[in-house]
Amino acid sequence: EKGGYDHFMLKEIFEQPTSIYDCLRGRLDANAGSITLSGIEQHADKIINANRIIIIACGTSWHAGLTAEYIIEELCRINVEVEYASEFRYRNPIINEGDVILAISQSGETADTLVAIENAKSKGATILGVVNVVGSSIARASHAGVYTHAGPEIGVASTKAFTAQLTVLTMIALKLAYVKGTLSMHRYRELLKELDSVPEKVAWILNHQKSIKRIAEKYKDAHSFLYLGRGYNFPIALEGALKLKEISYIHAEGYPAAEMKHGPIALVDENLPVVFVATKDTYHEKILSNMQEIKARKGKLIAVVTEGDEVASKLCDDVLVVPEADEIIAPLLNVIPLQLLSYYIGVAKGYDVDKPRNLAKSVTVE
Ligand code: M6R
Repeated sequence: EKGGYDHFMLKEIFEQPTSIYDCLRGRLDANAGSITLSGIEQHADKIINANRIIIIACGTSWHAGLTAEYIIEELCRINVEVEYASEFRYRNPIINEGDVILAISQSGETADTLVAIENAKSKGATILGVVNVVGSSIARASHAGVYTHAGPEIGVASTKAFTAQLTVLTMIALKLAYVKGTLSMHRYRELLKELDSVPEKVAWILNHQKSIKRIAEKYKDAHSFLYLGRGYNFPIALEGALKLKEISYIHAEGYPAAEMKHGPIALVDENLPVVFVATKDTYHEKILSNMQEIKARKGKLIAVVTEGDEVASKLCDDVLVVPEADEIIAPLLNVIPLQLLSYYIGVAKGYDVDKPRNLAKSVTVE
């Protein structure tokens, strides 16, 4: 059942070149320059003219939603807000008919997300679902949607469902940008090609993971970790921290790197591992200076860096290398080494990584 892997989580991490490919298949045609998403096409005018898109989700799916906020606002210039379903459903939010709700859920059964969209639907909002489980409650409650086609996810920690969500959300952003005309044809085509190359790049990362096990051994006894990122990689820092908490029971906090000096930097000493998501993008110089600030305080520096980036690598105690990619696509790649890091730390500590204590695969109670 585990296909020769020790755990479902590892199997699912290694399935990602295939699950992302399955998600793109029949939808993205990079050569023809087209994206086919019938659920989105039916409502395209409504979405591009929406007052705002409100993304609703929980946990890892919320992190996919936060990444999508950055991507959709950049590519489509549509106002996006991201809410925890549990907050949204109880706080009497202002919803108008021109609002579009985008619900993201692996299981399609998360109670808070389901009730949140039902409330919004009763106020006239259009509901789009990005769901993995076909025919699930959230899929049925949505007006339209896009399935993530990641296949069954057994491990309680979400891995391949997350990258499939990011893949779908990036395709949605590109489709909307195309319809709205907010991207040059050159940039649009370039991003389609970038997205098309993701399965191959994910496979490259998985083939270069040998050092991650050693890094996991080295830091497994730390009491706490900080995960930092900026821009598109800020949600990836949050996701890296959540994965570590779930699997290894080590306290971890994700933070925007620039917020560090507004408080968390007080935690930094020679015992604190700080994981930066520091691939080459618009924010690169700024994140390098954040890394220097940690180093000056003797924190242990671990970073996800772009292959060949000697400057970032030299600053670090340990690096997790990923291939070069456009910054819009990078989150999809950068999360992979962080999934592996938490997996190997959990295993090194002897925990049941497929069924972490206190957690359920889908949270069907509030
Ligand atoms: O099935 P959903 O995507 O709606 O689930 C949302 C969260 O419960 C889920 O992502 C949770 O945070 C996972 N344990 C993350 O690994």
